[in-house]
Amino acid sequence: MRKVKINLGLNSYQILIGSDLLKESGQWLKEIGFSDKLVIITNPIVQKLYGNSLKQALLKDGFKVTILSVADGEEQKSLETAGRLYTELSKAYTERGTPILALGGGVIGDLAGFVAATYFRGVPLVQIPTTLLAQVDSSIGGKVAVNHGQLKNKIGAFYQPRLVISDISTLKSLPSGEFANGLAEMIKSAFIRDRDFFTFIETNLDKIKSLDEGVLEEVVCHSARIKAEVVKKDETDLGLRHILNYGHTIGHAIETVSDFRVNHGGAVAVGMLAAARISNKLGILDTGELARLKSLILGAALPTEIPDLDRGRLIQAIKQDKKVSGGKIKFVLPKAIGDVFITDQVSLSLIEQVLAG
Ligand code: NAD
Ligand code: GLY
Repeated sequence: MRKVKINLGLNSYQILIGSDLLKESGQWLKEIGFSDKLVIITNPIVQKLYGNSLKQALLKDGFKVTILSVADGEEQKSLETAGRLYTELSKAYTERGTPILALGGGVIGDLAGFVAATYFRGVPLVQIPTTLLAQVDSSIGGKVAVNHGQLKNKIGAFYQPRLVISDISTLKSLPSGEFANGLAEMIKSAFIRDRDFFTFIETNLDKIKSLDEGVLEEVVCHSARIKAEVVKKDETDLGLRHILNYGHTIGHAIETVSDFRVNHGGAVAVGMLAAARISNKLGILDTGELARLKSLILGAALPTEIPDLDRGRLIQAIKQDKKVSGGKIKFVLPKAIGDVFITDQVSLSLIEQVLAG
């Protein structure tokens, strides 16, 4: 097992990464001071796969455990579902010190995190991510949120967990498309921050995809370290943390215009390549580096071309992002593999040129 510490003063915590960690969870929870009631928030798929056995292990360790289950799916990240969970938490006679364990992917992590941040003005939160995306990205850094109409992830808080337990054994049951979603965020982390890690992923891609435990532990750990380092420098997303959105400006537009038929990983993969092409056209990113990114994305079974969507609507959706970020379209662009910068100086005509292919 490996440990990554995320240093945030009083809000510091550990990320534990390894195989078969779920059965040891009681021990880690006791180590950070929990000993009595616990609430697990999960969904029926993850409950069946891991929730019930986690509950049994925790009961054996002397905890009192309540499981609250919400239906699967992004639409559960809502104020309505959060409201239902508040009611159920009150029926379970939880107290301010009762921790919420978010067991699942990013949807459960964001929703349960939001509930933990707001119930009783904040109860302790433990993230137990079970998707690759959640293990390399969403469980780390304290962004918790629900959606509200068109406001995706905009009703939320920065609320750090007390512990993250990333059991890589849970990835064995993950559908391949969900695994590829996580790979997109892992490639992003390497591409924005760590050239050697990018090379490591290139070299070990087959082992990653075949869930080689040693390599998987290494890459989840390395991705967690990159995110932890960025979040430590900019916890509340005022500057540097924007680089974690590499590929997301065009990626979000693709998701929106496709009515979410293009999944997040696919949209981010295409968005990362489009941003790299913009940089290449500006004479910043070397063509060989662009080719390496494309080849890794292809190898990860992710798309490389912008899907057949109305280009005008894509531009509108990108401009919509602009409204949200202070009147300018903000892009994260690569200088080289492992090194990016933030700019609002990309012209609309260049974006249109890249979208045209
Ligand atoms: P998800 O939570 O919807 O999980 C994907 C699917 O996998 C679901 O059907 C889920 O039930 C299932 N699943 C989960 N674990 C499984 C397992 N081990 N085996 C089999 N099936 C399993 O999707 P996701 O990609 O994990 O997360 C996406 C969400 O994360 C989005 O809502 C996004 O906004 C959010 N997000 C948040 C942050 C952040 O910093 N907070 C960062 C990135 C993404
Ligand atoms: N996933 C982007 C962030 O955590 O800031």
